[in-house]
Amino acid sequence: MSNPTTQPEQRSLKTRLVLLTAIVSAAGAVAATALLVNISERKQEARNPFYRVVELTDETVDPAVWGKNFPLQYDDYKRTVDQVRTKYGGSEAVPHTPTAADPRSVVAQSRIEEDPRLKTMWAGYAFAVDFREERGHAYMLEDQTFTERQHVTKQPGTCMHCHASVYVPYKKLGDGDLIKGFEKMNQMPYVEARKLVEHPVACIDCHDPGTMALRVTRPGFIEGMRAFKEGQGIPNYDVNAQATRQEMRSYVCGQCHVEYYFKGPEKRLTYPWAKGLNIDNIMAYYEENGHKDWVHAETGAPVLKAQHPEFEMYNQGIHARSGVACADCHMAYKREGAMKITDHHVRSPLLNINRACQTCHKWSEQELLGRVETIQSRNQKLRGTAMDALVDLIQDLKARKLAGATDVELAEARGFQRKAQFYLDFVEAENSSGFHAPQEAARILGDSINYSRLGQKALSKPQAATPKSE
Ligand code: HEC
Ligand code: HEC
Ligand code: HEC
Ligand code: HEC
Ligand code: HEC
Repeated sequence: MSNPTTQPEQRSLKTRLVLLTAIVSAAGAVAATALLVNISERKQEARNPFYRVVELTDETVDPAVWGKNFPLQYDDYKRTVDQVRTKYGGSEAVPHTPTAADPRSVVAQSRIEEDPRLKTMWAGYAFAVDFREERGHAYMLEDQTFTERQHVTKQPGTCMHCHASVYVPYKKLGDGDLIKGFEKMNQMPYVEARKLVEHPVACIDCHDPGTMALRVTRPGFIEGMRAFKEGQGIPNYDVNAQATRQEMRSYVCGQCHVEYYFKGPEKRLTYPWAKGLNIDNIMAYYEENGHKDWVHAETGAPVLKAQHPEFEMYNQGIHARSGVACADCHMAYKREGAMKITDHHVRSPLLNINRACQTCHKWSEQELLGRVETIQSRNQKLRGTAMDALVDLIQDLKARKLAGATDVELAEARGFQRKAQFYLDFVEAENSSGFHAPQEAARILGDSINYSRLGQKALSKPQAATPKSE
């Protein structure tokens, strides 16, 4: 015995204590290991939240196939069919009697019926015939296919760039070359191009199938950003190689939610950003190249149509300046078990204030909604004033033209109509009703009102008042 003084009872007590300690610490170790394993599994889940059920290639267009690997994202993506109105945004499901020419049973509300002054602004252009509130991504291809604007004008294949999954069709058309395919499709009649596409914007348009990293697939944006950066002194910018992850969370949206025009007889889709992204830069760009979208039917002015410049306007606002991306608000994170996933139900953030805004702002939902609607209602009031001013200028120009004024006499006032109209339309066509950049929107509307005023002033100059016969 190593310790003769130790009594048997004591010995057994000691043994039991040692045993107990061993058991407890073993159990603890097991528990700790289990916890570590669990954490690491969760981390793994969070990092790589999918199981590869199918092999995705750079030719897999159908989102349902991608959905096999990513069922949560796919389920939310499908929900872009929902139509819910907010005070100034969202969309309303309006019943439509299907016809052979237009088989849709539901459309969104008509904007030109809501505000007929728009028809005056767009006189002579297809938008005066049919222009509706935009709705979810699921509808983009059918809404473009069946808009009455297709019947008024022969639309080019260029339209497809932002309304369909064109990545694979472009590459096929260009024998593997994305840009070549883009150039070819631009020049096709719409109906021909329509036969080459099948899906609205799909997973492959924003994701690399191998890594799931975000990517830009739209030539319009790739070239637009290159021109923009060139103007900033950065040559040969490659968006997919040089953009940060946070920038990509806006750039994937900037592929389509931007001002654009069709350049030259080859109808090349072009984003007018060489001089910069704000309206003054864009106006200067169009003034320099003399581009016009159409000639105003009532006044003869060479005018421009602004289209959904969400990306440009957002870039003038406090959120962009603070590094907040489109996806932060429109594709807010949500929790599914241990996973934090990106909500692919792209929609108005006002239908989802909790996740879209309250992650950063500690104000109540009611307060946040109140702040947005205050911005928006002020914006709509000023927009209305600018619209009245523009319609007045158009009436005066029309009257002077009918009275026989010459092109030379009308040139200055027409120039102001071109500007007043483009500035107003830039805010009108921007779908946040001022929210993305409140002060910039107000500044632009103020400039628009001023251009209408200057246009009327130009008409009241003596030489413009002189009839042609004198
Ligand atoms: C800070 C949050 C925030 C960011 C960032 C943001 N938006 Fe918005 N966006 C809004 C809000 C709020 C509205 C107004 C929605 C409404 O009126 O229902 C809106 C409206 C829109 C709409 C119209 C939605 C509708 O239902 O009518 C579009 C399209 C849009 N944004 C696109 C973009 C794009 C593209 C970007 C990035 C270039 C962007 N947004 C960045 C908050 C944001
Ligand atoms: C640069 C991308 C882009 C191109 C090119 C483009 N669109 Fe769109 N289009 C959009 C976006 C973004 C919206 C949603 C925002 C909005 O309606 O303001 C939209 C909305 C629409 C809508 C639904 C709302 C409405 O205006 O009634 C129709 C229809 C439409 N486009 C038709 C066309 C046609 C026809 C062409 C070709 C002349 C075309 N689009 C070219 C991006 C584009
Ligand atoms: C391939 C072009 C394309 C891309 C990329 C794209 N959009 Fe759109 N988006 C559209 C078109 C077109 C519509 C209008 C569809 C219609 O009215 O039929 C639209 C509609 C919307 C709407 C209105 C939804 C509603 O319910 O009223 C929002 C919000 C929106 N987009 C935000 C975004 C955001 C945020 C991104 C980036 C994550 C993005 N979009 C990427 C083309 C695009
Ligand atoms: C308009 C662009 C766009 C489209 C289309 C799109 N996504 Fe995403 N997706 C995003 C953005 C933005 C993120 C956030 C990525 C980041 O933060 O790096 C994302 C993230 C993801 C992730 C990473 C995990 C997560 O939830 O954050 C998966 C997986 C994913 N998307 C699957 C899909 C699938 C499947 C589809 C088609 C059904 C799809 N996406 C369509 C823009 C898009
Ligand atoms: C990722 C963070 C983030 C998200 C998400 C976010 N914001 Fe903000 N917001 C900011 C920052 C940063 C500012 C700049 C002011 C500041 O630093 O506090 C700001 C400013 C604002 C302002 C003041 C604007 C001004 O011109 O001064 C309003 C209003 C606002 N946010 C509303 C919203 C709403 C509504 C949403 C949801 C649709 C939202 N924000 C989502 C970060 C965010």
